[in-house]
Amino acid sequence: MTRVAQYPVEPQFLSRWSPRAMSGEPVAEESLLRLFEAAHWAPSGGNSQGWRFVYGIAGQPEFAPLFDLLADGNKIWCQRAGALIVVLSQTVLDGGRPNPTHAFDAGAATMSLALQGNAMGLYVHTMGGFDADRARTSLAVPDNFAVNVMIAVGHPGRVEDLPERLREREIQSARRPVAELIFKGKFAR
Ligand SMILES: Cc1cc2nc3c(=O)[nH]c(=O)nc-3n(C[C@H](O)[C@H](O)[C@H](O)COP(=O)(O)O)c2cc1C
Repeated sequence: MTRVAQYPVEPQFLSRWSPRAMSGEPVAEESLLRLFEAAHWAPSGGNSQGWRFVYGIAGQPEFAPLFDLLADGNKIWCQRAGALIVVLSQTVLDGGRPNPTHAFDAGAATMSLALQGNAMGLYVHTMGGFDADRARTSLAVPDNFAVNVMIAVGHPGRVEDLPERLREREIQSARRPVAELIFKGKFAR
């Protein structure tokens, strides 16, 4: 691991990253269920649990329609994903009350899913590069759900199998210093 923490944290926060070099081997349904299990223990406003996950496993009929939603730049490496997930979140709750924290909550669940996958030795990579409007129609998403991100999950593959441009980017990225992000008392430029 190349990442270094300024302050001591649990190793899982440094070791989670978003690799693309997946093997193409399908991810077992039982493994995905463990990821969803982790995700659904995330906190949410009023415990509304508005996250929903639509998934498909490589080699099974549900995978191709999800793959088809991806931007070309993501298709290049997602052809070796072992599963694809679309993350939805409930904008209006069942009683008709708006759910202002829906995306925040789904983000927390997505991070839990990623940390669980990382702990299991799987690659988990979140993507905004896909056609959310088309996802809404092709996946029959109800009007009171937002389409947020897609997630590729895969078994580790060979970096050499990525196109050269992506090979160079297959490294753990850095972060700004913590001091740039925190303000004691009030925001300062
Ligand atoms: C909301 C969101 C959208 C993203 N969209 C894409 C994407 O479309 N394609 C891609 O290859 N990576 C995508 N990423 C991955 C980010 O580039 C990556 O998380 C960021 O560079 C930090 O790197 P790390 O996750 O390896 O720590 C996305 C991540 C997030 C959270």
